[in-house]
Amino acid sequence: MKKNELKNQDPKVAALIELEKKRQSEKLSLIPSENFFSPAVREAIGSALMHKYSEGNIDKRYYEGNEYIDELERLTISRAKELFRLPEDWDVNVQALAGSNANLAVYLAILNTKDTMMSMYLPDGGHLSHGWSYEPDMKNEARQEVYLGGKRKVHISSRLFNVVQYKTDPKTHLFNYDHISKIAKQHKPQLIITGGTAYPRDIDYKKMRAIADSVKALYMADIAHEAGLIAAGVLNSPVGIADVVTMTTHKTLRSGRGAIILAKADLISKINRGVLPGLQGGPFNNNIAGICVGLGEALQADFKLYAKQIITNAHVLASELDKLGFDLLTGGTDKHLILINMTNKGIFGKYTARAMDKAGLVLNMNTMPGETRSPADPSAIRLGTPLVTTRGMKEPEMKLIAAWMDRVVKIIQPLAGLKFSEFEKQLDESKEIRIIANEVKGLCKKFPLNF
Ligand SMILES: Cc1ncc(COP(=O)(O)O)c(C=O)c1O
Repeated sequence: MKKNELKNQDPKVAALIELEKKRQSEKLSLIPSENFFSPAVREAIGSALMHKYSEGNIDKRYYEGNEYIDELERLTISRAKELFRLPEDWDVNVQALAGSNANLAVYLAILNTKDTMMSMYLPDGGHLSHGWSYEPDMKNEARQEVYLGGKRKVHISSRLFNVVQYKTDPKTHLFNYDHISKIAKQHKPQLIITGGTAYPRDIDYKKMRAIADSVKALYMADIAHEAGLIAAGVLNSPVGIADVVTMTTHKTLRSGRGAIILAKADLISKINRGVLPGLQGGPFNNNIAGICVGLGEALQADFKLYAKQIITNAHVLASELDKLGFDLLTGGTDKHLILINMTNKGIFGKYTARAMDKAGLVLNMNTMPGETRSPADPSAIRLGTPLVTTRGMKEPEMKLIAAWMDRVVKIIQPLAGLKFSEFEKQLDESKEIRIIANEVKGLCKKFPLNF
């Protein structure tokens, strides 16, 4: 044992890391925005690159000693170009520290304060960084056909810009392009955004492009969730259609934490300045190395099989849940995520998500289209298949997961009226929940994570 090992130097932190590894190993993460990275990606992230400061861009740094960092960033950009099949006149930024920063950097680059951006309404599946603000009581907002923001300007983008949000169709919960077009014509935004966290269907990027053109707006597609599926060619790509594409690297793309921005070359130098100095100082070079390794993996033929399997698994899980009477928003999914309205089961998102977690099935509580409940206790749950697919699980395991979810719901339905603290106590005492947790643990052992 080495003297300077973490467990000797700081046993408290070391113990927490071990507990977290055990939690990840013994439970199934069905959170659609999570994944598990390869040993090579993790080695790159934990490497000596973390020590280096390199503010600036390739060959133009404000710090000495960046000859290898320049090479690394060049390689990462060239892999991103190949993977996302970039047109000749597009370029790449890999320095934004996270997806939210990437989006903000784009806004800083192309909008003036008080300009109008148009994005998807958050409770319908949009993202906070697309201009979110709210009212304490959202009941009236749920009924309006367009959302013009609330007094609580929670995301900085809602303080800087005028935000208009389109909603999904109230009956089908799908994008209604005619409706989006009408709103665009009424509000004349400078920027139109698609993408989000809980919309289970693919987006028609060409239709969105036409809408943007009709009002002379720029069009940004945020593909944070779908990046791996789009890279693998199993979902439509907005590259070459939108003006800018932003993404996180740690979801379906499985490349460690960070973000990538793809944009037409005439926008990229403005966007680079939006990232630095607009928003941040030195890039996290170790994370860029993780992204580079992850992109290298995504360029291999087996990544396409992985991406296909994510979707197959999501289809099987969705269809099993449908058979068990779960109310799937939009009737199913085109990608890796499923949104379920729990109202017909008589138990809502917060209670369901906590019970599932106790049973070893980790998923999110979530808002849904037409939501009238609080985001802290919403109507729906959200789940997805990227991480269970990384573990090697296929169709038979998806059937097991659906059956476990059904059993959990049947156990908790009689407890729906309890206060949350009492509900949790009952969960902790439930023998049936413990039995399911053990069964899940058994399955996890057959599909271990390679720590
Ligand atoms: C659509 C979308 N955009 C942006 C982000 C923000 O990414 P980050 O958490 O890295 O800031 C997310 C993360 O969930 C997302 O789903």
